[in-house]
Amino acid sequence: MRVVMYMAISVNGMIAKGNDDTSWISLEEWNSYSLAVRNAGNLIIGRRMYHILTKQPEFSELKDVTLVVVSKTNFKTLSPKHLVVNSPQEALKMVSRSKEVIVAGGGILNHAFLSENLVDEIFLDIEPIILSNGIPLFKGNEYEQKLKLIGQKKISENVLQLHYQILK
Ligand SMILES: NC(=O)c1ccc[n+]([C@@H]2O[C@H](COP(=O)([O-])OP(=O)(O)OC[C@H]3O[C@@H](n4cnc5c(N)ncnc54)[C@H](OP(=O)(O)O)[C@@H]3O)[C@@H](O)[C@H]2O)c1
Repeated sequence: MRVVMYMAISVNGMIAKGNDDTSWISLEEWNSYSLAVRNAGNLIIGRRMYHILTKQPEFSELKDVTLVVVSKTNFKTLSPKHLVVNSPQEALKMVSRSKEVIVAGGGILNHAFLSENLVDEIFLDIEPIILSNGIPLFKGNEYEQKLKLIGQKKISENVLQLHYQILK
């Protein structure tokens, strides 16, 4: 099982404005992300991202994938098909039969997966914008991880995708 983190970021590494606004993320980026998720057939996200993503009209494109939400809160999901688990390890168990698993935010969840050494690769789609304040790609205690650049491509005129391998 290959665990892949897939995120859109600003040039300075933010994943949303402070008020959770992600309207600066391009349609081309969404299409690339959405295709990666549908190909994998699963998506792991944090509780805050779940509440945001499921309100977006585009979420309907992901209705057939196995959606796993990591949370220690007891809350009601919008569909009985959405699974809630209380740790990153439990989330991976839910999709353990998949060849590839997509982990996609937010910053708290990303930090947990990375610092627990559960990620194999990261795709970063860099949108041409600087956000002085916002939610960082990784949010948590100080942590350092070395990476190897294994791919790069333009997914549109203005968006560069970097593909990293986590050095273990
Ligand atoms: N640019 C992008 O590609 C992208 C992608 C995804 C999200 N986003 C943005 O990211 C923002 C949300 O990020 P966020 O950092 O605020 O929140 P988040 O990571 O989405 O959710 C945080 C919550 O997830 C649960 N969680 C995370 N790690 C956990 C762990 N190790 N064990 C148990 N539960 C865990 C906790 O829920 P409980 O409190 O319920 O325990 C925690 O409060 C939104 O603005 C969203 O739009 C952007």
